[in-house]
Amino acid sequence: MSIKYKVISADNINCIKNLCNELMVYQKTKAHIHPEWFDNMCFESRMIPAIDGSKSNFIITAKDKDEIIGYAYSNICSKTTYSDGFATLEPVDFFDFNSVKGDDVGCLSQFFIKEDYRKTGIGTILFNRSLDWLNSAESIDDIFIFVSNGNEDALRFYQGKGFKVSHQILGGFITVLRNF
Ligand SMILES: CC(C)(COP(=O)(O)OP(=O)(O)OC[C@H]1O[C@@H](n2cnc3c(N)ncnc32)[C@H](O)[C@@H]1OP(=O)(O)O)[C@@H](O)C(=O)NCCC(=O)NCCS
Repeated sequence: MSIKYKVISADNINCIKNLCNELMVYQKTKAHIHPEWFDNMCFESRMIPAIDGSKSNFIITAKDKDEIIGYAYSNICSKTTYSDGFATLEPVDFFDFNSVKGDDVGCLSQFFIKEDYRKTGIGTILFNRSLDWLNSAESIDDIFIFVSNGNEDALRFYQGKGFKVSHQILGGFITVLRNF
């Protein structure tokens, strides 16, 4: 298996539309708190607004021959974006935004590998490339990762990479991990 990694521009995100939608379906299957909220989450409602609303975006894909089999999407945006990022759903639980040093935060926002390709190291490569990009941004010290409830495998993956649980939002619908 020869996997090729490619950074794509925000103008070319349509090529990951199906994978983004698969990620939403996957997260719904894992969730026990409000799984129905995922019914309104899709490429058009999550990915495009995130790209448009962020100061900077980084999208990296993994390709097997001609097929994109995984991607990671990271961005940099104002720390207060996440105080109402899910405002259409419910208020955000308490989090002390003063604990974030700068005005902006980095965020690993979406991450998905097709099932047959998981646990072969592809995710680690995409994760490391994304973190390299986030860490190279001078405007940020803090990196957040948002994991929806019930996705214990993803939590373990990120904790294995040194991230720690910071707080929860939306009554536990999302757990926020942080690079303390
Ligand atoms: C989370 C996800 C992106 C990780 O990608 P991945 O390609 O499976 O990641 P890796 O293969 O690098 O590592 C996954 C695990 O497999 C292990 N692994 C890596 N290579 C391996 C190999 N050759 N043989 C056996 N195990 C291996 C890793 O140690 C790791 O273990 P851990 O999770 O207990 O730390 C992927 O599982 C996925 O897409 N899941 C579904 C969607 C999802 O949950 N996304 C995250 C939303 S927040």
